[in-house]
Amino acid sequence: MTGNLLTAVPQAARYLLDGQLVAIPTETVYGLAGNALDAAVVAEIFRVKNRPSFDPLIIHGHSPEQLFALAASVPAGARQLADAFWPGPLTLLLPRGPEVPDLVTAGSPFVALRVPRHPLTLALLRSLPFPVAAPSANPFGYVSPTTAQHVADQLGDQIAGILDGGPCEVGLESTIVGFPDGKPAIYRRGGISQEAIEALLGLVEQAPANPLPVAPGMLARHYSPATPLILGDIPALLATAPEPHKVAVLSFSRPYRSGYPQDIVLAPDGQLATAARHLFAALRTLDASGMVQIIGEWLPDEGLGRAINDRLRRAAAQDTIGL
Ligand code: TXA
Ligand code: MG
Repeated sequence: MTGNLLTAVPQAARYLLDGQLVAIPTETVYGLAGNALDAAVVAEIFRVKNRPSFDPLIIHGHSPEQLFALAASVPAGARQLADAFWPGPLTLLLPRGPEVPDLVTAGSPFVALRVPRHPLTLALLRSLPFPVAAPSANPFGYVSPTTAQHVADQLGDQIAGILDGGPCEVGLESTIVGFPDGKPAIYRRGGISQEAIEALLGLVEQAPANPLPVAPGMLARHYSPATPLILGDIPALLATAPEPHKVAVLSFSRPYRSGYPQDIVLAPDGQLATAARHLFAALRTLDASGMVQIIGEWLPDEGLGRAINDRLRRAAAQDTIGL
């Protein structure tokens, strides 16, 4: 599939002003953007993405001032996080203000807000008279796109254009933080680590597993390749794999065998940030490689490693449970 690749911000702005959808680069993953304040445009985002209407969208803007105007109230902790991490891979879940269409929040009393860090998208957002709603630009349930080509492959013929900002720098979605009972809680792990948030606000909770509304980033099976992914001790899993040449190994920092070009090492430099940046592209490559199985391993459970492990766990899950 091909898409209308755009390199100029004003072109993308014209489509958005015209009520059309444009995929936008962010530092986390590509988003599928449309005017957040126009319910008909938001409905079109749900249709193109084949996304269930109970799954709310993040609103993206250029500044805390623009976004906080969409909230009914802003806890002090949210302002601190915005000061520290915006623009950046952090989404704040705040009580929703009256301007936000029902469809964006799926009827929830909370709205998700984020200032992304990609320079092209920031320039685009500054040039628009409205904020944009933007889910990750992939069909619902599939691996998020980290290049313009990923978007073109799956949604290219259904949207007005794709603003090409190169490969995403972080590679994992934003961390979602809300304030149930006034205290910060993480609803989705992502590009800002729990440790970084705790350095600012003190101990932070993991949000309850089954909140209302449901955040599908919390669904057990999500971010999933079609090829089965099994996680564990790679040598042990390889020893029991029936046909080693039909299996691909996805490892953190070192190869486990030689002579199998399908294998991928996420971070030869041993850095978690490198692994995060490469994870989704690696899952797509492996999915297209015709293997019968992907064998992977857990990463160190700290910093970005916890968000990566969360995505691996969901990519490996067999069923959609967790509703
Ligand atoms: O990094 C990101 O966050 C990317 C880029 C494009 O900004 N966006 C992204 O959007 O990952 P999406 O739609 O794929 O995931 C957003 C998550 C979903 O799990 C959704 O349920 C949750 O945020 N969410 C959005 N609004 C919410 C709300 N009002 N209440 C609870 N969860 C919400
Ligand atoms: Mg998504």
